[in-house]
Amino acid sequence: MTSPATKPATDTVTGLMRDISGIGTDTFRGGYSRPVFSNAETELRSWFIEQASRRGLDVTTDTNGIIWAWWDTATGIRSDAVVTGSHLDSVPGGGEYDGPLGVASALVAVDILKQQGIRPRRPLAIAVFPEEEGSRFGVACLGSRLLTGALDPDTARNLKDTDGNTYADVAAANGQDPRFIGADRTTLQQLGVFVELHVEQGRGLVDLDRPVAIGSSILGHGRWKLSVHGQGNHAGTTLMNDRKDPMIAAAKIMIGIRDTASKYRDARATVGRLQPVPGGTNVIASRVDLWLDLRHPRDEVTAALVESIHLNAQVIAAEEGCTVSFGTESLSPTVHFDTGLRDRLQALLPEAPVLDTGAGHDAGVLAGHIPTAMLFVRNPTGISHSPEELVEDHDAEAGAGALADVLAGLLGE
Ligand code: GLV
Ligand code: MN
Ligand code: MN
Ligand code: MN
Repeated sequence: MTSPATKPATDTVTGLMRDISGIGTDTFRGGYSRPVFSNAETELRSWFIEQASRRGLDVTTDTNGIIWAWWDTATGIRSDAVVTGSHLDSVPGGGEYDGPLGVASALVAVDILKQQGIRPRRPLAIAVFPEEEGSRFGVACLGSRLLTGALDPDTARNLKDTDGNTYADVAAANGQDPRFIGADRTTLQQLGVFVELHVEQGRGLVDLDRPVAIGSSILGHGRWKLSVHGQGNHAGTTLMNDRKDPMIAAAKIMIGIRDTASKYRDARATVGRLQPVPGGTNVIASRVDLWLDLRHPRDEVTAALVESIHLNAQVIAAEEGCTVSFGTESLSPTVHFDTGLRDRLQALLPEAPVLDTGAGHDAGVLAGHIPTAMLFVRNPTGISHSPEELVEDHDAEAGAGALADVLAGLLGE
């Protein structure tokens, strides 16, 4: 039997994706549900650690739950590293590729570099970031925000999932000591550049008929929680005119959000999650929580939109005899990736177009600290955060090949 440590790694991205295709499938929603530190995501993390170890990479998990797989130079000094990677967690009922494609492509890119006999002059690391989607604890890119100090550790420790578990408890159950989460300058100082490969989450490459693009920017985005408070009551005994029904106010608020955002061509406003409390068919709710996801390339427009939505929600709630409270859960300004690194990628991948994206990524958080770039791989459906997200086999391999070219170029510098 070949031991995992000696088995030659000659995988394809398609093969690696097939290996994990049974993990975290969601028969109720369709697609995949892989919340951070769930059984499914933990299984994927173990899979990654095994794959990286099999390639001779030195794997460590840092205090923030980020997995690092290092290909060290002869000196063993970890500085100015070329880093690639992505995430393994998913949204509820998400697609197969959002996150894992970048991780599988990083492993295959390492295979390609090894097959080419490349001996890096700079260390290379693959990073796997936890809770990129914010689907469990509400704050997207939680791992990279903690690493870079963009999120206060106390705030993170107290975040709760829908079952009431705190991030501190869940992190502890997964082997991290929650006392030590937060800004990690030692790790950050080891990193030189970060290049994240990701499935494209729109139709840019389909329309251009190209397999791979270089990222230029990420739209500013944020999340806000609105709680509409009314009067819980009996569905059969409360006359229509006697109600203070927060569901009705919430419905009008959502239409208001759509109408307000629609006035701005580049705005995207979504309420994808709504929770009536207590949530019974024959119960007028006492409260409704809803979460707003809002994005726009200009941060001042985002701020103005939020203000307008907040004021409008207060007026609508009052019309229905309700009140509304409004809180920011996260806010990320628009990110323009490092132009010097992008020029370098364009020289290495002259055929690749340059595209922006409306989706958030750990690359966006790291961009505030080190030169960062992204590669997007064509998604023929143009659909993401849905089971219909797709990458064709030849595009997946083309993506890993492009990533290998980029890494080889950067490692040679
Ligand atoms: C994550 O994919 C996001 O953009 O919400
Ligand atoms: Mn996503
Ligand atoms: Mn993603
Ligand atoms: Mn994302």
